[in-house]
Amino acid sequence: MSQATAERPPAPVPKRLSSSSLQKAVGDCRACDLWEGATQAVMGEGAVGATVMLVGEQPGDREDREGHPFVGPAGRVLGRALEEAGIGREDAYITNVVKHFRYKVRGKRRIHQRPDRWQVTACMPWLNAELEMIKPAAVVLLGATAAQALLGSGVRIGRDRGKPMDSSLAELVTVTAHPSSILRAEDDEQRSLAMNELIADLSAVASWLSDRGG
Ligand code: URA
Repeated sequence: MSQATAERPPAPVPKRLSSSSLQKAVGDCRACDLWEGATQAVMGEGAVGATVMLVGEQPGDREDREGHPFVGPAGRVLGRALEEAGIGREDAYITNVVKHFRYKVRGKRRIHQRPDRWQVTACMPWLNAELEMIKPAAVVLLGATAAQALLGSGVRIGRDRGKPMDSSLAELVTVTAHPSSILRAEDDEQRSLAMNELIADLSAVASWLSDRGG
């Protein structure tokens, strides 16, 4: 345990897991320091019978203010890619490895900062609870923070994306690019290529789900 977590209470995950019990309890989490600067914790959302869980990094500025995952610009990219891949919202549960927004203030703006490893570790009980509650058939890890948090530091998105990964988290575990990387593409051509790759990775998951019978 790192120095930073040693003095902090563990994540107060409730014994009875439900969307509402998790939502309520996460607001009291002090397992790391990120709650101090955040408006609120953002728990995952989606159907309890969801077959696919998508895991991002952490809420962004908009998610922090609104209290829902992937409702900002990256969420719009993800929504479009899911739709193109044929994955319905009713089949998906969408969450993040870290439940509070980490940022630094620059002028009037809050600039995203990647969470430190100890903050990811401190937050992991919430994601484990979501996995236990949803028991998704497929887990899609969006970007390096989520992929490395769940599969280890050896994962590389460029090399491993779209492939079934060796993991006991779910029957199918895959990694792909984070939707915000598409927003950072240099120009329209790169953006469209990156979007097509994301759609292809999600389409492979959709095909796997349909072969398995939903
Ligand atoms: N980026 C993420 O990783 N998660 C969100 O909820 C929004 C942006």
